[in-house]
Amino acid sequence: MDAKRNIPFGRPILGETEKRLAAEVLEGTVLTHGPRCAEFEEKFAARIGARHAVTVSSCTTGLQLSLMAIDFQRGDEVLVPAETHVATGHAVEHAGGKPVFVDVLRETGNINPVAAEAAITPRTRAIMPVHYLGLPCDMDAILALADKHGLAVIEDCALVVGGDYDGKHPGAIGTTGSFSFYPAKHMTTLEGGMVTTNDGKLEAKLRNLRAFGYDKGLGERKVPGIYDVMALGHNFRMSEVQAAVGIGQLEQLDGFIEARRRNTAILHEGLSGIDAITLFPVKFGKARSACYCVNIMLDGAIDRNECIMQLNAAGVGTSLHYPVPVPLMRYYREKYGYNDGEFPVSEWISGSAISLPVGPHVTADDAHYIVERVRHVLSGNS
Ligand SMILES: Cc1ncc(COP(=O)(O)O)c(C=O)c1O
Repeated sequence: MDAKRNIPFGRPILGETEKRLAAEVLEGTVLTHGPRCAEFEEKFAARIGARHAVTVSSCTTGLQLSLMAIDFQRGDEVLVPAETHVATGHAVEHAGGKPVFVDVLRETGNINPVAAEAAITPRTRAIMPVHYLGLPCDMDAILALADKHGLAVIEDCALVVGGDYDGKHPGAIGTTGSFSFYPAKHMTTLEGGMVTTNDGKLEAKLRNLRAFGYDKGLGERKVPGIYDVMALGHNFRMSEVQAAVGIGQLEQLDGFIEARRRNTAILHEGLSGIDAITLFPVKFGKARSACYCVNIMLDGAIDRNECIMQLNAAGVGTSLHYPVPVPLMRYYREKYGYNDGEFPVSEWISGSAISLPVGPHVTADDAHYIVERVRHVLSGNS
């Protein structure tokens, strides 16, 4: 058996370019409202194939701003998959809306379009497809639903940099896409996010709402300090240092994604065929995954927590996506009265999955080690 390793679930890789670009910002005087954010936005939009990109402080704030930009009203409803990060639900709550949770598909963990349609009411204003673990949702079905019922499509793209749906990148398909640059993600700006859209009017609203609702940005004021405020905006801006790091990360992104694909292939090859676990596919219909991580759903008879402890003891870092379906988290349960058993597929995933690392910090050799350790732990616990 191989000697113990230390493979965290996620580890950002910051190169010399990121350090040099960040240092240049720190040596200058423009720390925010500057050219680095503009450059990062332009490069990211080109990368995703969206017309516009707007830097923000996180994916969560990007989702909230997206709802505000579509003139969302207090009490409006948004369809949200039950199996997601709490950020997706919280963004709706912060925007004054009501998340209406929908179960996900057993084959992929993505929102179930049939269940979503059944949950539509006269107050439904938007749907938030979350591209679960990097596999794009069935966007044909979601766009058809949105068209039929007049809904905005606010894509949660936190885990999908490098994914593909029928030749398009998520974030360039719906009304808006919101990306996360948290350290464990495909690329990082420490904290941070980006909203993409093909709609120029929405872009202008996003920029306005991101910065207090000022009628004029810093560079547009004829007399410095004179401005008016048009809306109840936020301060959800990204700093110049973060944008500089993001520009450097974009240069490494192809290599990052290639490593994720390679590691995912090694894990799939090594773990498929084990009766005690279920894996989600890397390709499904028109969707090709961005390979954020590999979930293994364990047979109900296996003690998941024991497996996690043993994997961690062997130096294999793990995570959970996600520990509890959002509607069954205490805040949502108490507010809306959701009960166990209402989201059977989400509950199955949350109750049985372990997320394994495939990020670029994981070498091919590490990926083989992960396979070997998972097989060993499963054989001792099934
Ligand atoms: C699906 C999903 N949406 C949103 C977020 C929140 O991203 P951020 O931390 O950039 O707000 C996460 C974080 O992991 C996530 O997994």
